[in-house]
Amino acid sequence: MKTIKIISVVGARPNFMKIAPFVRAIEMHNLASQQSHGLNINHILVHSGQHYDIGMSEAFFRALSIPDPDINLEVGSGSHAEQVGQTMIAFEKVLRQEKSDWVVVVGDVNATLACSVTAKKEGVNVCHIEAGLRSGDMTMPEEINRLVTDRLADLLLTPDKISSENLRKEGVAENKIVFVGNIMIDTLEANRAQAAALDIETICQENSLNASSVKGLRKGGYALMTMHRPSNVDDPTVLGPLVDFLCDEVAGEMPLIWPLHPRSGKRLKEFGLWSKVEQTSGMVLLHPIGYHEMLRLNMDARILLTDSGGLQEECTVLGTPCLTLRWNTERPVTLREHGGASVLVGNDVERIRTEYKNTLASGRKPMRPEFWDGHTAERCLQAIIDYREN
Ligand code: UD1
Repeated sequence: MKTIKIISVVGARPNFMKIAPFVRAIEMHNLASQQSHGLNINHILVHSGQHYDIGMSEAFFRALSIPDPDINLEVGSGSHAEQVGQTMIAFEKVLRQEKSDWVVVVGDVNATLACSVTAKKEGVNVCHIEAGLRSGDMTMPEEINRLVTDRLADLLLTPDKISSENLRKEGVAENKIVFVGNIMIDTLEANRAQAAALDIETICQENSLNASSVKGLRKGGYALMTMHRPSNVDDPTVLGPLVDFLCDEVAGEMPLIWPLHPRSGKRLKEFGLWSKVEQTSGMVLLHPIGYHEMLRLNMDARILLTDSGGLQEECTVLGTPCLTLRWNTERPVTLREHGGASVLVGNDVERIRTEYKNTLASGRKPMRPEFWDGHTAERCLQAIIDYREN
């Protein structure tokens, strides 16, 4: 029986929802192949260990039924150079031992960059799932990770046609680009029913950080937010006014549910903003929450404020009006001008306030870009199987 050996890599929270359907597609493929004596996929899952808290990592493996990683590189937290460097050193050893045909990387985190570079230097083919996204913002570490990964990858699997076009403009050969759709939406569709069965108040009670009253959270009657980008949380002159707006104006009007990323929690404490956030009535502070819990809250939020790219995409499919707390996006397909649910508001409070008021007046408008249909992972695997160098 012919075999292809694939190593897939994950490192940080947003990678887990992208790898879950790919692992499942491999399992389904192998089941079918056993019966027909067709091609077998030998799959190894590597976790760089960038995210390590149970709530940031293991909880997602359990909830999304991802098998435990075969190998954990345990790089942990550190500067970008430390994370990338340590991942490369450890991953090179894995590649020399495992001798795979492919390395599959997803998204744009430090593991994506580190493992693509290492694989190419070891002569292993690289496939990038979620290729071609471009914000044009070189101050974002993710943009650097995307550019380098896409420059090196042999197979570039894109979530939308704008991304395929970006790659063409950069001179990527046509045979390397395959438009497959958005793999995160596979996970959303596979978990929608399970999420819908959860109770909003129970999620908040079980994950509450500030034990403030979480009663009266009704469907369509609360705002939801996440914020973790260094550009929003690492500078007190930016974070301070944002916190004032969120506490005084949003939480003053309706309950505001905020699952806190560890980076943001640390900064709020460092900058002396913690007690205000914690004590604002109407502010429902939560620990980092699981995939189903976040999806459930998103389904019935009146408005979502976020600097996460993945949530922008989920809002598009669910129709939740979304204020994106960034000045640019690598995901233009999610913007209102392309039919999506999101509008860029940056981190200037005046602009956020204006769009917040405008957006509250608009209702939910679900939209489904082409191939965001729940079957992207199968197309990804097929593209690898069909790959020919020329
Ligand atoms: C990383 C990704 C970012 C992604 C985000 C999602 C890169 C360059 N950035 O940013 O693209 O949107 O993940 O969360 O790869 N920490 C913990 N526990 C953990 C992990 C982190 O407490 O399990 C704390 C540490 O103090 C750490 C800080 O959070 O220093 C930031 O974590 P890090 O992985 O460096 O970057 P993220 O901001 O999470």
